[in-house]
Amino acid sequence: MKITDRLSGDHKSFQKIIQQLESAIDAPPQARDPKQVIRLVELLKRHVALHAWFEDAYYYPAVRKEIARARHPEMTVEDMEALEKEHQAVDEQLDRLEKEANLRPLLGTWPLAFRSFCRYLSAHMRKEEEVLFPLSEKLMGAERLKTLAREVDAHRVQSPRSI
Ligand SMILES: [Fe+2]
Ligand SMILES: [Fe+2]
Repeated sequence: MKITDRLSGDHKSFQKIIQQLESAIDAPPQARDPKQVIRLVELLKRHVALHAWFEDAYYYPAVRKEIARARHPEMTVEDMEALEKEHQAVDEQLDRLEKEANLRPLLGTWPLAFRSFCRYLSAHMRKEEEVLFPLSEKLMGAERLKTLAREVDAHRVQSPRSI
């Protein structure tokens, strides 16, 4: 499996967890389970952190090297750096959401903050899926992307944020 397929699969898992969170938030007050919201936010945070580590430590450095070789109007090295900064912003927003999910009563603004985070994360994933992943497939070819996925698997235990 190419690393881009793996990363796209992760994005789909995030969307599933987010849908579950949306249902938990939208449940009528008597059916709302605060512990479920906390559990799902923690789950999302662990998955996103591991995914960002795969991207930051393996995928982005390899792609950046390729992109730097020639001019690609659809994605420059600066665009990639902006995407990497978004990883930090995602981390920070999720940290805050997790801390606030533990407050009782839950802040009235929490669902709004959560939905704003979801829009931010979705826009980030869309840029990767629509521009970065296809460009890296074109520049690196399937075999290199499969090798990269095997490398990531081999080093998974070194992840500081293993699931
Ligand atoms: Fe990313
Ligand atoms: Fe991603």
